[in-house]
Amino acid sequence: MNEHIQIERRGAVQSIRMNRPDKKNAITRAMYAEMAKALTDGDADPEIRCHVILGVPGAFSSGNDLADFMAVATGGEGGREVYDFLLALANAQKPIVSGVDGIAVGIGTTINLHCDLTFATPRTEFRTPFVDLGLVPEAGSSLLAPAVIGRQRAFALLGLGEGFSAERAREAGLIYAVVADADLDDAVFTAAERIAAKPPEALKIARNFLLGDRTALIERIEAEGVAFRERLKSDEARNAFVAFMNRKK
Ligand code: COA
Repeated sequence: MNEHIQIERRGAVQSIRMNRPDKKNAITRAMYAEMAKALTDGDADPEIRCHVILGVPGAFSSGNDLADFMAVATGGEGGREVYDFLLALANAQKPIVSGVDGIAVGIGTTINLHCDLTFATPRTEFRTPFVDLGLVPEAGSSLLAPAVIGRQRAFALLGLGEGFSAERAREAGLIYAVVADADLDDAVFTAAERIAAKPPEALKIARNFLLGDRTALIERIEAEGVAFRERLKSDEARNAFVAFMNRKK
């Protein structure tokens, strides 16, 4: 168990809640490992029919823990847990519903490209400042985002690092619906329970058709991962991490 990830079961729905509010849900290696395990365990469990991914009020996630990035940038190991999580996400056998409130940076945005339904609150901002950090898009987002929201909006999001409000994200097709903060969990669990009540075999086949062949997605996740790890060791990235660490000084 990891103290920052809460796994709960509500009937046939398994929810994974990131819960590290003091760091705005920055995701550590241990958190990725726990979430990957929850997704694969839930996929293997016939009692579970739908996954839910949530954050805390005001923070879905501020992205990968920058201290972990810095550790890799300065020669340390890292990346396996992220990769395992991304594979579990991209290969998920059951639908995933996410609920996003507030901060959704980096992987806090790109997770949702793998979800079947995403609900977000009006105060949510989706932002992927990969290039500003000297990095490149990850999680297959360079393939998924152009397909989901169109190439130019994907460039604004992933290349320029422009923030997308919840409403802009909904218009673009990045998310399913905008709901009030107080209604987020209800909206997410109601949708997940609706999904869980469908005939599972028919839903699985339908979802697989909607997703299409996942080979290209897995290959893209791998290729992005290679570029990402190289970029982590670049001066551009190191300087950006140091600037973040020193920003309050
Ligand atoms: N990794 C590690 N720690 C992080 C973090 C991250 N990605 N994001 C936030 N934190 C930490 C901050 O260092 C701070 O810790 P401290 O209280 O010990 O100093 C705490 O979380 C709160 O963050 P703070 O910046 O004070 O909150 P804010 O509301 O002013 O800003 C963000 C929130 C998310 C906009 C800002 O923290 C940010 O830009 N974070 C970096 C996001 C990022 O670049 N992620 C990687 C994307 S690839």
